[in-house]
Amino acid sequence: MSKLKAVIVGAGRMAGTIDDECVDYPAMILPFSHAAGYTAVDDVDLVAFADLDETKAQALASRWGAPRAYGDYRQMIETEKPDIVSIATPCTAHAEIVIFAAEHGARGIYCEKGLACSLAEADAMRETVHRTGVKFNMGTLRRWHPGMIKARELVAAGEIGQLRSVITYGSSSMLHSNSHYIDGLLYLSGDPEVDWVQGTVLNADFDPAADRCDTDLSGIGTVMLSGGVYGYLLNTGLVAEFEITGSEGAIRARNNLLHWDLRKLEPTGHRSIAEFNVRQFPYYERISPTVNLIRDLAHAIETDGETRGGIEIAHRNTEIAFAVIESHRRDGARVTPPLDNRNFWMDSR
Ligand SMILES: NC(=O)c1ccc[n+]([C@@H]2O[C@H](COP(=O)([O-])OP(=O)(O)OC[C@H]3O[C@@H](n4cnc5c(N)ncnc54)[C@H](O)[C@@H]3O)[C@@H](O)[C@H]2O)c1
Repeated sequence: MSKLKAVIVGAGRMAGTIDDECVDYPAMILPFSHAAGYTAVDDVDLVAFADLDETKAQALASRWGAPRAYGDYRQMIETEKPDIVSIATPCTAHAEIVIFAAEHGARGIYCEKGLACSLAEADAMRETVHRTGVKFNMGTLRRWHPGMIKARELVAAGEIGQLRSVITYGSSSMLHSNSHYIDGLLYLSGDPEVDWVQGTVLNADFDPAADRCDTDLSGIGTVMLSGGVYGYLLNTGLVAEFEITGSEGAIRARNNLLHWDLRKLEPTGHRSIAEFNVRQFPYYERISPTVNLIRDLAHAIETDGETRGGIEIAHRNTEIAFAVIESHRRDGARVTPPLDNRNFWMDSR
């Protein structure tokens, strides 16, 4: 089978240099950047970069051995006719590039998070992805982290009984950071629909009447998932931790998924009191989430199957983010997606 051709739009950190920031960080399973990921996957060839600043595209092309560099992503896509388009630009450009790539023959898109700066943009991306049939994954990488995959398997197998809640620790900017935590709580719960969202914006200067915002707002919230699981987006000072609690046990991911505990609810022998005792979390192989995401996308292209992520889940993620803000606007009322207000636009870089 011939190799899939990949190109990358945006030639900054996530495109090709972020691994340099993480070499001494044990929580990070490298490779991390898009370019490092493609280089590690056998059935994909990375052929070009594009950036508004063509010198950045040239620098990454030469670092990663891609033969060509462009100053205009449209020209790159029209010339290269890639199978996969990776989008590692700021969120402000995601919608335009996803739509262009899908409408110009891409078979797979790996788009960085947050998905979009407004629900209207997210709607247009979803419509285009469905209409063109392009396979899609958003770069909320914890979905492809082997520890998270193992945790979801344990939950699905009933190891902690009936799932009751997923707490995410690390909440801050809704699109840039919280997209990771929202995706984690959806993934660990089996990607259900959302019944309602209740939230609070933490930015003191947020003007609830504005229809644009030049800051990616920070928020905390409760997400009631269909099926009765509570998701909590917390802001406690802990970074990238998850607590998954069921009727018979719990799973705790600490220190950005480096450490994992499985806990079982067991009787103490004292009246009806039970306690959560720590057990060994099962072994998992430390395979890079970026590599897993790319393999998942390539597999979906080659088999005409579904990706592990997909546009529906990325869209639901964005709906939750904006619902936190809408709930704040309505003094903490429960908000049921889809929201009426599709046009509120928020910057995110
Ligand atoms: N998944 C993760 O863990 C993770 C980590 C870091 C960043 N990100 C995401 O990656 C994206 C990029 O972040 P970064 O830190 O690499 O930013 P960056 O500023 O380092 O790089 C972005 C690049 O995109 C280019 N660009 C902007 N608009 C463009 C356009 N229309 N066409 C072509 N190039 C364009 C810029 O010139 C810049 O070189 C963001 O969406 C961010 O949220 C994800």
